[in-house]
Amino acid sequence: MRRVVCPGSFDPVTNGHLDIIGRASRLFDEVVVAVLINKTKKGLFSIDERMEMLEEVTKEYGNVRIDKWHGLLVDFCRHNDISVIIKGLRAVSDYEYELQMAQMNHRMAGVETMFMSTNPLYSYLSSSLMKEIVKYGGDVSGLIPELVHTRLAERLREP
Ligand code: PNS
Repeated sequence: MRRVVCPGSFDPVTNGHLDIIGRASRLFDEVVVAVLINKTKKGLFSIDERMEMLEEVTKEYGNVRIDKWHGLLVDFCRHNDISVIIKGLRAVSDYEYELQMAQMNHRMAGVETMFMSTNPLYSYLSSSLMKEIVKYGGDVSGLIPELVHTRLAERLREP
């Protein structure tokens, strides 16, 4: 079985992430979306909330599974018999850091990283920008799923 992991913080998932997940689902038998837990970074959404949104917005794909992991991504790969990581590249500025991680992951566990060029519709998109724009009532239509927009608006309204 050709299995790939699509890792990230997903705080929250955007249409840019979904584009990569959807395209990967056509190339691999199974796509495992892994929400990586980073205890030093306080997220807006809990890991379970991020996973729940991911479950909802990927349910149309029959071969996407959502999981979470605390620790090294290569250990997640070992535990799940995964030999390929897929990452979206939005711009050259993403490349340097991604290349470093890809090389380190390969050195540690022989895991390959595949880069997929982001759809230009989403190349300027990030979860952080979405949070900031929704907080101040800006227009994010077409950039995040409707459900995520609703959850973001609710969360950012909370005192
Ligand atoms: O969505 P993000 O925050 O850009 O995702 C980055 C992420 C979570 C994929 C990356 O930080 C990662 O792989 N973290 C897991 C810890 C790890 O394996 N670190 C060593 C990388 S060489």
